Order: sequence, then C-alpha cells, then structure tokens
Amino acid sequence: MAIQIKNKSFETLIEYSMIEKRTRLIGIEINVDYEDKQPVFVGVLNGAFMFMADLMKEVKIPCEATFVKFASYHGGLKSSGQVTEHLALDIDLAGRHVIVVEDIVDTGQTLKHFLQQLTQLNPASVAIASLLVKPKALEVDLPAIDYVGFEIGNEFVVGYGLDYEGLGRNLCDIYRLNGEAEES
Ligand code: XMP
Ligand code: MG
Repeated sequence: MAIQIKNKSFETLIEYSMIEKRTRLIGIEINVDYEDKQPVFVGVLNGAFMFMADLMKEVKIPCEATFVKFASYHGGLKSSGQVTEHLALDIDLAGRHVIVVEDIVDTGQTLKHFLQQLTQLNPASVAIASLLVKPKALEVDLPAIDYVGFEIGNEFVVGYGLDYEGLGRNLCDIYRLNGEAEES
C-alpha cells in the first residue's frame, strides 16, 4: 500500500503481522536467555516505544523497564551524526543485566554513544535488541546485535514508532520511502 506523509510517498515494507511474529520469537529467546537474571530493558526513545511495548508483552520473566532519549536525525531523512541526549537513565544499572531496545540501527552512532555511557555504569551484561538493522549503513564498530527483528536495505523507513518529520510513528506497518533503490 502507498501512503503520503507531507510531500513524500512511502510503500509498505513490513506488515504488522510479520512484526508480531518476529517479536514473539525474540520474546521467547529472551525468556530463555534471561531466566533468573531479572533484566532491565532500556528503550531508546522516541522510535523504540512501540517495539518496546510489544516486546515486553512477550517477556514472561521478572524484569524492569526504563527509557533513555537520544536524537540524531533532528527531523529529516538522514542522520546528522550528532547525537544529543534528552532524557537520562533513572535506574542504577551496576551489576544488572541490561537489554537495550532500539527501533533501528542505522549508522550506529546513537548505539555506540549509548554503549560507551553504559560501560561506565558497570552493568553485569549488555545485550541489544533492535527491531530493524541497516547493515549497509553502519559507519562505526559495534558489537553484534543480539536480537534483530529484520535486516533492511539502506533506505529510509517510517511507521511502528519511526517518523518522518515527526509524523508516521502511529502507523502499525513499516513503510519505505518510494524512489529509493532497494538493496538486499
Ligand atoms: P543511527 O544512525 O544513530 O540512528 O544508528 C539512530 C536513530 O535514528 C533514527 N533513524 C531513523 N528513523 N527512519 C526513521 O524514521 C529511518 O530510516 C531511520 N534510521 C535511523 C532512529 O530513531 C534511530 O534509533
Ligand atoms: Mg532510535
């Protein structure tokens, strides 16, 4: 399906039914991997709010949740490379098993920035769950992403938490910008 946001046209890339299935499987993996570890889920706002909510509904073990907020896109179609922090951590993560929940790893700048901060807090372990990963856009060295929803090409996407100039976060499906070559 094609949709219009502001002056841009987008088409369906991943339907919500697929997201639901994948999220359920990631939840099952986490239930096994973190049994008895009481992990802390740290959602990276704004984009990860929907994935965080759906993922946590699949987590059946004792766990905590909190959020941090970073921005690197500042509204447009490309990451500025400049990561700014808008909301700080409010749980002491020393000795805790942390699962960072991201909407998308694109250039990797945001995650790299946050992982450096996390290391200083001496957590027992840090894992990353990202709904989307753009392997071809990665610009920095990152540890392997432990839980990946979907790998996508180097294309701009909206929906399911992700936005174009603030719009589109409420869409259930994920859409990609029309006119961009799909890379596999
Ligand atoms: P980086 O480049 O630091 O990306 O890995 C970090 C954040 O930028 C947002 N992002 C996107 N948002 N469509 C969006 O709506 C995209 O294609 C896209 N790529 C990156 C997102 O919040 C991510 O966490
Ligand atoms: Mg994000």
